[in-house]
Amino acid sequence: MVGKLVVLVSGSGSNMESLIAACRSGSVPGEVVGVAADRKCRGLEVAADEGIETALVEFSSFDDRTEWDRALLAEVSAWQPDLVVSAGFMRILAPSFVDAFPDRIVNTHPALLPSFPGAHAVRDALEFGVKVTGATVHLVDHEVDHGPILLQEAVAIEDGDTEESLHERIKAVEHRLLPEACRIVLERSGSEG
Ligand code: GRF
Repeated sequence: MVGKLVVLVSGSGSNMESLIAACRSGSVPGEVVGVAADRKCRGLEVAADEGIETALVEFSSFDDRTEWDRALLAEVSAWQPDLVVSAGFMRILAPSFVDAFPDRIVNTHPALLPSFPGAHAVRDALEFGVKVTGATVHLVDHEVDHGPILLQEAVAIEDGDTEESLHERIKAVEHRLLPEACRIVLERSGSEG
């Protein structure tokens, strides 16, 4: 079975790219059939260049958050995904969205959860002064940056690290962990179904 993957992005989309490559190489038993974003971003452009269907559900053009939630759910549902992958998506998913894809939404986060949830995880870890941070890929539940952890890997903080240099090393780990986590979830649901 080849699973249908939909990826949610807000930024450069490098995690999405690693996932597309892993699907095409056969290391993930899936295909990225759609990419949705809440804003215009490089990730959306890359997806379109790769010949993947895209949807821009621009948060700023909605007056009402609930309407935006509905629009995002409608776009993503139309692709009938087996797995939804939040890869640098900078919006909290509505409970109605999470409920539509139970145990089928994966998120990648640039810290060792439950430490440093939120939008500034790399900066927060640096400012706290921890010596080790990392990357976490987990299933999404109703809490922010929370849910069963699929994979996690530590990244050491080096003297002189900036938010940018540290984030680059964390992203390199995410690029490995995210496809691997998707493979695990797809194979698990394949053997159940
Ligand atoms: C990743 O580190 C992700 O965990 C965080 O934002 C970054 C997105 O990078 N939420 P990219 O858009 O995949 O390059």
